[in-house]
Amino acid sequence: MCGIVGYIGKRDAYPILINGLKRLEYRGYDSAGIALRTDETRVFKCKGKVQDLENHVEGLDISGHIGIGHTRWATHGEPNDENAHPHRSMNNKFVIIHNGIIENYSSLREKLIRRGYKFSSETDTEVLANLIEYIYLKGNVTAEMAVRLALSKVVGAYGLVVICEDEPDQLVAARKGSPLVIGVGKGEYFLASDATPIIEYTQSVIYLNDDDVAIISRDELTLKTIHNDKLTPHIQELDLDIEQIEKNGYEHFMLKEIFEQTQSIKDTFRGRVVPASKELFLGGINEVIPKLVEARRILIIGCGTSWHAGMVGEYLFEEFARVPVEVEYASEFRYRNPVIYNDDIVLAISQSGETADTLAAINLAKEAGATVLGICNVVGSSIPRNTDAGVYTHAGPEIGVASTKAFTAQVTVLTMMAMLVGYRKGTLSKEEYEKHIDELACLPEKIKSILDKSEAIKELSAKYVDSTNALYLGRGYLFPVALEGALKLKEISYIHAEGYPAAEMKHGPIALIDEQMPVFVAATKDKSYEKIVSNIQEVKARKGHVIAIVTEGDTVIKGMADHVIEIPETLEALAPLLTVIPFQLISYYIAVLRGCNVDQPRNLAKSVTVE
Ligand code: G6P
Repeated sequence: MCGIVGYIGKRDAYPILINGLKRLEYRGYDSAGIALRTDETRVFKCKGKVQDLENHVEGLDISGHIGIGHTRWATHGEPNDENAHPHRSMNNKFVIIHNGIIENYSSLREKLIRRGYKFSSETDTEVLANLIEYIYLKGNVTAEMAVRLALSKVVGAYGLVVICEDEPDQLVAARKGSPLVIGVGKGEYFLASDATPIIEYTQSVIYLNDDDVAIISRDELTLKTIHNDKLTPHIQELDLDIEQIEKNGYEHFMLKEIFEQTQSIKDTFRGRVVPASKELFLGGINEVIPKLVEARRILIIGCGTSWHAGMVGEYLFEEFARVPVEVEYASEFRYRNPVIYNDDIVLAISQSGETADTLAAINLAKEAGATVLGICNVVGSSIPRNTDAGVYTHAGPEIGVASTKAFTAQVTVLTMMAMLVGYRKGTLSKEEYEKHIDELACLPEKIKSILDKSEAIKELSAKYVDSTNALYLGRGYLFPVALEGALKLKEISYIHAEGYPAAEMKHGPIALIDEQMPVFVAATKDKSYEKIVSNIQEVKARKGHVIAIVTEGDTVIKGMADHVIEIPETLEALAPLLTVIPFQLISYYIAVLRGCNVDQPRNLAKSVTVE
């Protein structure tokens, strides 16, 4: 949550900070602010979006070659001007931006109040600013020392950047739990929560690790731990280009990302699936494949859409590799003293690679001795750096808050993994294995043919713009797709929606069905087809509106549903990759027609780095 940017060098800092905040706005968007340094540090901040901040500074002095900026997702204190970052310490010695949560902030605040400190905001960040200042003034230490000493008293997570009035030509940055990347230029450095604000200036970056502190001037970067041990910075070269993070003519990132799925799926299996030789190769986990083959159990953990992908993974691994799988919300798993065996394989799924609960669950599994693997999209993020091995999804940057192409990429990786393990284990026959390899290669074309129907899907969506509730149904592999369809609608259009296994409908949700209720059903031809036809009849008997995703040429469901969206035939295990596309489009169009901010839905953030 929250986005952080910083700059120190010879250029004007303002445009770098503002453009950076725009790129990071997907991380939080309830208030924004910047601090610019010349002879003194000026702070500009306001409630609202980055655009509001731009309006706010119009006509003001925005000069300076050193600066920091922040876009906020509120944790402590409502979104207002006062609670926006940057925060100043009481005696104006420090200005700070912070992402994360200081868990012991109220006891620290009490102590500081007893020592005469007054607070102008409700944030934990102001507590941190004052704590740093108190240590600085009392201990007669340098700014960097004060930051390190203050952080050693803090419980919680932070990614932060600090300016000290007395040491104006440097920034001090630190990280624990909340990501921070430093871009290395010539005589200049850039800071950001992820690499997207940096890549137009430099591809050379340093990812800070937990407990790292960086002291940055124009010409020099010193890296150490909060315990003052010196570290050698590890500079990595990125492989990201600017077009990947722009809208390229699409009205929203979400729509662009939905349409990118023909390509992103190809990118996910590029170099990994060789249709001609029917080979499957996942370099990142090659060495642990024997462990996967031997595994007595796989635990899959994730949050949100990644958890839904994990549920598809359960069906895939159980079918292809005949290994028991449990799928867990990371937030539940980590807090309920789970039973973890040292021969368990724990598979963590995350688009951002930064989700706090998923990271904590990984650490728990590692402590228990399990082998921990990751499926992540953001290269170099915390989860890949904290797992034993893993596979990148290579879907490219996903900026729309509602996850779309990351889901299909995650499911693609899970499919490849399950096939590979099943084939090595002998539980997936050569014939079935080859059939699935061939079909995987056909998926981008099939996705394209669904996207070609987007105009018709838009017209259909218009009919449900005023709904207040919706039900999503599916069976087997398509049950997680129903969950994902419902989540997409909820997230961006604020229509209450529930995903259910179709057969479970009669144990509760059927009571909700009346002529106002749209029921979206994933009902392609598979082994439970007859059963789902009965479920559709049950809905129709209660006058519900059925919108069914069916296999091309289906006449049975066409005869009973209010609307059908035909999609190309595929293998049952691969059906989630196609059926989810119309659901993504439906939620997108409904949200747009309702006038919702699709890319930045209210109260949500792309990357949830708080617990
Ligand atoms: C947030 C996002 C979701 C995402 C979830 C898990 O809630 O809004 O789109 O599915 O976090 O994020 P991760 O990066 O771990 O996949």
